[in-house]
Amino acid sequence: MTEDAQKSSNVVWHHATVTRLRREALTGHGSAILWFTGLSSAGKSTLAHAVEEQLHRKGCLTFVFDGDNVRHGLCSDLGFSIHDRNENIRRVGEMTKLFLEAGVIALTAFISPFRADRERVRSLVPHGDFLEIYCHCPLEICERRDVKGLYKRARAGEIKDFTGISSPYEEPDQPELVVDTGTLSLEESVAKVLDLLRVRGVIGRNGE
Ligand code: ADX
Repeated sequence: MTEDAQKSSNVVWHHATVTRLRREALTGHGSAILWFTGLSSAGKSTLAHAVEEQLHRKGCLTFVFDGDNVRHGLCSDLGFSIHDRNENIRRVGEMTKLFLEAGVIALTAFISPFRADRERVRSLVPHGDFLEIYCHCPLEICERRDVKGLYKRARAGEIKDFTGISSPYEEPDQPELVVDTGTLSLEESVAKVLDLLRVRGVIGRNGE
């Protein structure tokens, strides 16, 4: 489906009586979308899951959408062309919007290389609910880590449209947070994200 087109007609929105606010009152924390973006091997998934672990221990409802995992199911029909990446992020954006309504802290780990795609997701939800977290790690370090051995294959020309090598990555202009995942420890990175959530009032409502 192309970006914003709605093909179905004669569909009427049904308003729920159990609302996001009521769900948030039940759990005692806010919902939000924590959108981790950055190059492959920058540490997005590692950080998202480590933040989730801490939030879970505090009794928060959470869910991590991970690029590699989502591409096994919901987005298994998509590749890495610009069009397919747009659609990947559109679907995940719509999904996280539902999780926001469900009162969940949704964390995503997608390269999401295009500014316009990320901004489109931001515009789907109320102001302040989309928190863009740039996992900043220089290409040289990502390539040295090469957790999945993909940079090597991309350099060898075996993988086309590879982000950072043969496909662009557009850095966020004004992310809510930049985490230097190339230099900070995982603990330091997690602490920065939790601080952001406290400052934004997503957690800490009951003094935790
Ligand atoms: S995105 O650009 O559409 O946001 P996504 O985060 O879902 O990408 O998937 C990226 C993951 O797919 C990478 O971590 C890597 O493991 C794998 N991958 C396979 N081919 C490519 C490619 N051409 N470019 C980037 N990542 C790729």
